[in-house]
Amino acid sequence: MMNCLQSWPEPVVRVQSLSESGIRAIPERYIKPPSDRPGFEKQEHVDIPVVDLKNLFSHDHTLHEETLKLISSACKEWGFFQAVNHGISHELMKRTREVWREFFNLPLEVKQEYANAPTTYEGYGSRLGVQKGAILDWSDYFFLHYLPVYLRNPSKWPSLPSSCRDLISEYGAEVEKLCGRLLKAMSISLGLKEDYLQNAFGGEGIGACLRVNFYPKCPQPDLTLGLSSHSDPGGLTLLLPDHDVAGLQVRKNGKWITVKPVPNAFIVNVGDQIQVMSNAIYKSVEHRVIVNSAKDRVSLAFFYNPKSDLLIEPAKELVSEDRPPLYSPMTFDEYRLYIRTYGPCGKTQVEFSESNR
Ligand code: OGA
Ligand code: NI
Repeated sequence: MMNCLQSWPEPVVRVQSLSESGIRAIPERYIKPPSDRPGFEKQEHVDIPVVDLKNLFSHDHTLHEETLKLISSACKEWGFFQAVNHGISHELMKRTREVWREFFNLPLEVKQEYANAPTTYEGYGSRLGVQKGAILDWSDYFFLHYLPVYLRNPSKWPSLPSSCRDLISEYGAEVEKLCGRLLKAMSISLGLKEDYLQNAFGGEGIGACLRVNFYPKCPQPDLTLGLSSHSDPGGLTLLLPDHDVAGLQVRKNGKWITVKPVPNAFIVNVGDQIQVMSNAIYKSVEHRVIVNSAKDRVSLAFFYNPKSDLLIEPAKELVSEDRPPLYSPMTFDEYRLYIRTYGPCGKTQVEFSESNR
């Protein structure tokens, strides 16, 4: 299996170039089967919870507890919430999003210098998974390692726009802090010691990567997806969505719900590894992205992940005779190989590990 991760199975086509070529019909490679298309089922008009983090570490016990409860119920019922008053500068969020929009708007030759390969995925890419003949998603992306520090290699980050590297560092430091706070809150609200999840993720050796998604305008948005249904394989995801283009959909009771981004909020979601560690008390929920014919969309997904070679398993405190462990131990490295090979395919993997324990 490692062998097939050396290179892409077909020549890479940049979706942005396709979009900008002015085609009226999308190539067959991007046409999803009818049941996966955006309009297949009616839309549900509810929204994911919004959690105000202002009182997360307040000294007022009641306010602190209330915030934890909201986080806990969002992680149980939805696997998703929008976080406001998260403490990160709105200005920094805006500048970071804009610098990435500018990066994607650079000439193709400039971006091609960062073209990635499936060995590490680091760099400028246009597909996830290496199955020959796979149906592709309508998006390009830039993927980079942020943590652990020894994997961080700014020379692989865009040198243009000239502020890009500094902004990645500045933004990374802030979102890393917020992820740490959220992991604490999740630990406490699961009844674990506040450092439980952070330590189980490898403490200082914790991993983090940034995936900047670019969803170009699409002439036939009803036939395709910007990103196919998947759950995030890692620990916790902090998503900075586009400020004025919606697109993210979350699965709830078998229906797709389009998230309406609250201005300046982060979208937080539980990844598969927290589902495993919480023994399925917290849910890693399927989500996908739809595209549109009017506007490009940019989003930044910061993935906070366990150290790659640690065994991840349900917390002993959350396992009992009535609630036996639902998953057997697996390293994140092994786990991640699945999505890197087969691409985004719903929640098949975490469910597979459930049925095979
Ligand atoms: C992801 C993801 C959602 C979005 O990158 O894993 O789910 O809105 N992105 O771009
Ligand atoms: Ni995702």
